[in-house]
Amino acid sequence: MKKAVCLIIMLANCIVGLSAQNPEQPSWLGDAVFYQIYPSSYQDSDGNGIGDIPGIISRLDYIKSIGVTAIWLNPVYVSGWTDGGYDVIDFYRVDKRFGTNSDLMELIRQAHSRGIKVVMDLVAGHSSDQCEWFLQSKEAPDLRYSDYYIWPSFKPEGVTGAGASLLSKFVATDAPRGPFYIKNFYDTQPALNFGFADPDPEHPWEQAVDAPGPMAMRRELKNIISFWMDKGVDGFRVDMAASLVKNDPDKSATIKLWKDDLMKWFGKEYPEGVLIAEWFNPEQSIEAGFDLDFFCHDGRYNYSTLFFYGRRGFGPNATTTIPYFDEAGAGSLKEWYDLYTYQYDAVKGKGYVCMPTGNHDFNRVCTEGRTNPEDLKVAMTFFLTMPGVPFIYYGDEIGLKQNPAAPSTDGSGFRAGCRIPMLWNATANAGFSTASVDKIYIPQDPDPNRMTVEKAEADPNSLLHYVRAMLRLRKEVPALGADASWKLVSSLEQPYPMVYERKQGNERCYVVLNPSAKAVTVTLPSESTKPVLIGGNYKKCTYRQTGKGDVISISPVSAAIYKF
Ligand code: NOJ
Repeated sequence: MKKAVCLIIMLANCIVGLSAQNPEQPSWLGDAVFYQIYPSSYQDSDGNGIGDIPGIISRLDYIKSIGVTAIWLNPVYVSGWTDGGYDVIDFYRVDKRFGTNSDLMELIRQAHSRGIKVVMDLVAGHSSDQCEWFLQSKEAPDLRYSDYYIWPSFKPEGVTGAGASLLSKFVATDAPRGPFYIKNFYDTQPALNFGFADPDPEHPWEQAVDAPGPMAMRRELKNIISFWMDKGVDGFRVDMAASLVKNDPDKSATIKLWKDDLMKWFGKEYPEGVLIAEWFNPEQSIEAGFDLDFFCHDGRYNYSTLFFYGRRGFGPNATTTIPYFDEAGAGSLKEWYDLYTYQYDAVKGKGYVCMPTGNHDFNRVCTEGRTNPEDLKVAMTFFLTMPGVPFIYYGDEIGLKQNPAAPSTDGSGFRAGCRIPMLWNATANAGFSTASVDKIYIPQDPDPNRMTVEKAEADPNSLLHYVRAMLRLRKEVPALGADASWKLVSSLEQPYPMVYERKQGNERCYVVLNPSAKAVTVTLPSESTKPVLIGGNYKKCTYRQTGKGDVISISPVSAAIYKF
């Protein structure tokens, strides 16, 4: 029956033009545009200085007006708040700071009535150390939740290979089950037990992936997923999805667990639900069955060479390399291009590689030298014309500025700088909250000239209006969509301007990007017809057919989109 319903939905989608490159993906995904909301920072409705769910509901018309079709909420579960909500105490309940489960249901109802999907964050790999499962598990080995966590009885010495990196996750404890437990991220985030890839018989805490404890853990995870999916949620972004099976360096056991069990089950139960990986290696995560993965800020597959002066733009590893999207015009595309094309080719036709405008873990796009709307329009043209599903981090649509001085809040560390409250209007606290300034979640940009939604609405040249126009264009022109092919047509040796081709069927576009402060020219192979300029932000852009190649010249800090 379910299969028949699926088939009907798929056929109907073909007729109305909805797309997803792979029939196993939700039919709405190919046309989706996500808006990520860090709930503590979006809109406060009760005057305590922290954003909440009723606040988000009150902004749904604005969210819809941007042109996005789905929301991803960072965790809203009851939390110990040592890691921005990623230390979950109760996976089945909304934290009081945000409201109630009923408030969340109301958000889903109201979002759906506007045609907007709602995706939650699923913290699959760990809980809070205050979670009742952990509190029980640390007491004794034979209780209901005892095996939800991993309790090494000693710290092995001289370990090499896979096991060596896990040693840094051993946390000393005086709990009765001690002397150690294994964490996933902070000490307050004990790892949930999905087993070990290759259990060492000398290490009795290393259970097999299919041992009773890890199997019970999987059932619990499915329960959490069902609990929310059955209430109308449209899917999850899965936090640290690659972390589940321990001592699994090539991730084959983790991929198998997702692919052979969780994904099969999810696909059957919720064929229109989406699962988004936080894995940062699409080649692996799409193989595991995820619909999409990010190419952004972590591990090897990051875009720091495009946007930041160093890895993620801060910290001891930051270098002074000039990023590509910078007026200096001294960046390179090569490192990003090699990694991106590797991932893109690996998953083409099976899933999406997505490049978000930002997120809650790394610098905003509006940072360092790139804080004026014209620079940001070039960057946004890139984000919104690449293949895969666009993700707009709240506030990036108005150029919300990174605040490097923001104090660490809820365990954010340096990440507070990108989790700053939204700026809405000219009232107190920019309309974010009626609380006194000292109660505001993270201090807002004190600049009296700061951009707000209200100002952006009033200015026809604002970044906000540009983002809307780009999203309209993306919707109207299938060659700019998620599934259209992508190919760099300019040369890596002469990176400014970057020109890439997007193609779907007979429709073809060129996207021309010049983030530099100089006018630039590029010669490309001769085309049989001259394309038409259909969008962008430029003072001047010309396309000449010379007989010795087609020549595009574009003004400084400009972006243009041509259609053949
Ligand atoms: C990735 C999340 O994006 C980040 O905010 C969090 O601190 C870690 N996972 C741990 O859950």
